[in-house]
Amino acid sequence: MQSDEQRVVIVTGAARGIGRGHALEFARQGYAVVVNDLGAEVDGSGGSTGPAGEVVDEIRGMGGQAVANGDDVSDFAGAERLVGAALEHFGRLDVLVNNAGILRDRMLVNMSVEEWDSVIRVHLRGTFAPTRHAAAYWREEHKAGRPVDARVINTTSSSGIYGNQGQSNYGAAKAGIAAFTVITAMELSRYGITVNAVAPAALTRMTENLRPDREKPDPSQFDPSAPDNIAPLVVWLAGPAAKEVTGRVFNVRGGAISVAEGWQAGPGVDKGERWTVEELDDVLPGLVAQAALNADQRGIRPTAG
Ligand SMILES: NC(=O)c1ccc[n+]([C@@H]2O[C@H](COP(=O)([O-])OP(=O)(O)OC[C@H]3O[C@@H](n4cnc5c(N)ncnc54)[C@H](O)[C@@H]3O)[C@@H](O)[C@H]2O)c1
Repeated sequence: MQSDEQRVVIVTGAARGIGRGHALEFARQGYAVVVNDLGAEVDGSGGSTGPAGEVVDEIRGMGGQAVANGDDVSDFAGAERLVGAALEHFGRLDVLVNNAGILRDRMLVNMSVEEWDSVIRVHLRGTFAPTRHAAAYWREEHKAGRPVDARVINTTSSSGIYGNQGQSNYGAAKAGIAAFTVITAMELSRYGITVNAVAPAALTRMTENLRPDREKPDPSQFDPSAPDNIAPLVVWLAGPAAKEVTGRVFNVRGGAISVAEGWQAGPGVDKGERWTVEELDDVLPGLVAQAALNADQRGIRPTAG
């Protein structure tokens, strides 16, 4: 059993890449860490809990506290066991980082139902299910009069909030995670829970095929592509200084962090009664011309003209 002050975090998909970086930084900052990972391949196939155990060993080797969990985050009962693991081993839960993910890229015209469903399931249900169980625990704590200062940090992607070809399944799931972040932030603030999301960019096994010709970085230089660059923002969002920050999405790569600004109502018109389709010929082209263009893949809004 831990001291009352030690905060406890669950990081999903924490055996590799970005999630591993989160788990190690949380441990360095004194958190007890539940290292979740089912050890899947990039496409979601296979599974072994070995890699999660390696991260646990690394944390224990640093003098930190960690426990491995091999549940599939997209399995509702598995997600309940995951939240239960934090309570069983450390007696509490303070932070949930939903990071686990897979890729099954394909152009829409060739995409199978299985490729669609597996990606939507792991990302979207795999964010919903742990959050649902963690939030139920925090609501009970709140009802029992115990102070709750909890955090959920989700993982979206530029693919979801700005778009990327070949990733309609992944981008739809990631856009869903951004919407889930905004809505659950509204619902959960009454219990003392904030919900934010990060849209990271880093070189991991998920993205290494995008640039196979990339030169090996010089280990003495800062590498903006390193996956552990994402962790400081995530750990900050988990901390006391971020208590009032909720419903936000952050872009992060290397040392660059920006706030992703969401959808907003642009130029509009209200006739006060039903339009005919023909009348809209005179109205819609003008509205579209006045409206800001969608941001490009980097999140930068092109200037018109
Ligand atoms: N790498 C990038 O540039 C980038 C960009 C945008 C978003 N992301 C997101 O960041 C997150 C981490 O990605 P990464 O690049 O570190 O990839 P990664 O493949 O290195 O790590 C993902 C981890 O999730 C685990 N996992 C997969 N399905 C799981 C499940 N059902 N239950 C539990 N664990 C599961 C895998 O075993 C793996 O260890 C993902 O959500 C990804 O979509 C990454």
